Amino acid sequence: MNINVDTKLIGLLGYPLAHSLSPVMHNAAFEEYELNNIYLPIQVLPENLKTVVNGIKKMNFSGFNVTIPYKIKIIKYMDEIDDYAKAIGAVNTVIINNGLMKGYNTDGIGFLRSFEEFAGNKIDGKKVFIVGAGGAARAIAFAMAMNNAKKIYICNRTFEKSESLSNDINKSMPQCSHTVPMSFDEMREAINDSDVLINCTSVGMHPNIELSPIDKKLLFRDLTVCDAIYNPSKTKLLRDAEEIGCKIVLGLPMLVYQGVEAFELWTGRKAPVDTMFQSVEKALKNN
Ligand code: ATR
Repeated sequence: MNINVDTKLIGLLGYPLAHSLSPVMHNAAFEEYELNNIYLPIQVLPENLKTVVNGIKKMNFSGFNVTIPYKIKIIKYMDEIDDYAKAIGAVNTVIINNGLMKGYNTDGIGFLRSFEEFAGNKIDGKKVFIVGAGGAARAIAFAMAMNNAKKIYICNRTFEKSESLSNDINKSMPQCSHTVPMSFDEMREAINDSDVLINCTSVGMHPNIELSPIDKKLLFRDLTVCDAIYNPSKTKLLRDAEEIGCKIVLGLPMLVYQGVEAFELWTGRKAPVDTMFQSVEKALKNN
């Protein structure tokens, strides 16, 4: 890679950033196409977010990704927001054009694409049980509603957040207002009624790899079980589900496909999907 004055910078803003695979994935993609771009992790303390965003505007950045804990906070610095990201209320991808920032959200599309490919199925007409109500749950739940899920259960440890996410979906899409909030104590019946279960909590993430947000006894063979966690690549929840005979969808393809969408927004070119998959698989193995 030949870094020079024309090199376009693309950043990843978050805190902390220690385990992100996005730099490896995007730099492999830029290299594949010999693009004069570089993807840089930029760890930003909350009190410095405004200063960093203003600085990025004045430098040769063509965009950036946003991760935990800034996907909502970043919105107030955007000059424009794509309709889908506006509905979700969270931004994970930003394009900078002539000093103006436009925010997008590619997390939901990333999940949908990985679900369709790896579950070999569509969300249309399915009943979906989502555990979690944070940033990832928000993007995925909206994507489910927009793609005609028949019913969406939102189950979160903090019930108020389940309620607030359900209300936001039902308000912005009254035509598909089948979103039901619930607490952890009520999950048994809802899981029984569902076709797809998606973990959007951090329970089971490295290093707590022996934890699962769902009791194995609540899983059954006809349920498709998905996890947004990609480290470890097969969480305890997915291992339990596999033992029962469920179809499973790993978190890694969601990470790659949200990156694919972001790459295409920044470069206007079709992303080298295979290269992106190989780079993150290799990085995870070496972890
Ligand atoms: P992300 O952007 O990855 O979704 P987040 O917004 O911090 O991250 O959300 C984390 C989610 O994991 C939340 O739904 C959180 O539940 P609370 O809203 O009750 O905090 C959930 N979560 C984290 N640790 C959990 C635990 N030990 N048990 C159950 N849920 C947990």
